[in-house]
Amino acid sequence: MSAPPLRLGVNIDHVATVRNARGGIHPDPVRAANMAVLAGADGITAHLREDRRHIRDADMRRLKQELFVPLNFEMAATSEMIGLATQLRPHAACLVPEKREERTTEGGLDIIGAHVHLRPAIKELRGEGIRVSLFVEPEIEVMDAACDLQAPVVELHTGTYCEAVVDGDQARIVYELERLRRAAEHGAKIGLEIHAGHGLALDSVRAVAAIPQIVELNIGHSLIGEAIFFGLDEAVRAMRAAMDEGRAQVPA
Ligand code: PXP
Repeated sequence: MSAPPLRLGVNIDHVATVRNARGGIHPDPVRAANMAVLAGADGITAHLREDRRHIRDADMRRLKQELFVPLNFEMAATSEMIGLATQLRPHAACLVPEKREERTTEGGLDIIGAHVHLRPAIKELRGEGIRVSLFVEPEIEVMDAACDLQAPVVELHTGTYCEAVVDGDQARIVYELERLRRAAEHGAKIGLEIHAGHGLALDSVRAVAAIPQIVELNIGHSLIGEAIFFGLDEAVRAMRAAMDEGRAQVPA
């Protein structure tokens, strides 16, 4: 049996970061989202942070109105964000931990230790027909905890694997890939849909794309960085091609 298709969700947060550096309306993240879709993105992801440092409420509303592909609303499980998500009704919501002082989402949700607030959040979002995913560490017991919380989807945090690739640390690369593989295999076995993301770049994406249980990758920072040199269209196409190369390694 061949692996299911692998979707690419393009995260356009950092188009908004550049816009906000000067105020005003350029570059427009919604225009970037539409270009990414034309170049082969299957969906668009945007993270509305508490401090609105990049994406703003109006961006989310425009993305929902103007896009013809699924919108994945990345958010902390706060009452403010849940209220906004239930009004907006995106295709999906990815619940992430959020710390004001962090530069990016540093780790997965602690769904084993501190999950009391997540159960009602998941229930409420699912009740509105929103597909909920939990951004989590790639560990077997975390997959079990996600299942227990009745989340249909998990997004495995690929950050530590990507750091190992950047450092060129072969032993850590092997170790981190094995963690991802084992978590994906176990998660899929117990009925979870498996996504992955964070830090993925052209030199790290193939091995993750080769994990057959993963059906969606969400990628932002490296794509927007490459777009500076090659344009967004070319950056998305190159990422798509690298993902397809990785997927082709899965035995039929
Ligand atoms: N997935 C989740 C849940 C994230 O928080 C992020 C970062 O916003 C990404 C994917 C994309 O990560 P990156 O921008 O490093 O590609």
